Amino acid sequence: MGKHISYHESLPSTQKIAHKLADSGAEEGTLVIADEQTEGKGRLLRTWHSAKTGIWMSLVLRPKIPMHQAPQLTLLAAVAIVQAIEDTTSLLPAIKWPNDILINGKKVTGILTEMQAEADRIHSVIIGIGINVNQGLEDFPDEIKETATSLSIEEGQPISRTSIIQSFLKHFEILYNLFLKEGFKPIKLLWESYAVSLGKEIKASTLTGVLYGKAIGITEDGVLLLKDDEGEIHNIYSADIEIS
Ligand code: BTN
Repeated sequence: MGKHISYHESLPSTQKIAHKLADSGAEEGTLVIADEQTEGKGRLLRTWHSAKTGIWMSLVLRPKIPMHQAPQLTLLAAVAIVQAIEDTTSLLPAIKWPNDILINGKKVTGILTEMQAEADRIHSVIIGIGINVNQGLEDFPDEIKETATSLSIEEGQPISRTSIIQSFLKHFEILYNLFLKEGFKPIKLLWESYAVSLGKEIKASTLTGVLYGKAIGITEDGVLLLKDDEGEIHNIYSADIEIS
């Protein structure tokens, strides 16, 4: 992972470049990094604030796996980021389904996974990762000041972006090889050990409506299972989760 790095000072979005590189045959593990993004993309069609001092990167993968397994790679990436944060800081990161990494309850990282397929086969999976590293509170727009944080705010000192990227690539490679050999099971166990939402009462805002209930687990495909007050179990594929 990261043998080929495409580094840019400023880009609209690392996702766009990673897709282009993937289309023109870039090797698995190619990494696109930018110091700043002017049109950073978040989940659910949101924008992602990407000023200088954060890590904005997209990893090109070409897994030979069935298409329904691609979302599992998001959970795998979340585990690798948690391990990299643990390696390089004294912080205790936790994962909120599906892919937010929280420190002291505030969001420090987001992951956006996009897949390109040809017929029924995966052509490429692009894992986009945004990590707030050295921003101060004043660097965040007002609307996310209450809910976002950076590693340096939480640690109380600047953090090396290079150390985090190197550690992430090391952990990602180990987990990815394990995943290709043994499937999602060992990754799911690790993910669950870092998860904060499981077993809690949650509010899930999906594109089609809002659901309340208990997060009782995730499926083998990484889908969240929510049990409502009537005991009905709902499969949540994509949503914003609030823990009550
Ligand atoms: C989220 O909404 O939580 C996901 C945010 C993902 C942001 C990263 S930053 C690097 C890559 N490039 C983008 O435009 N988005 C992703």
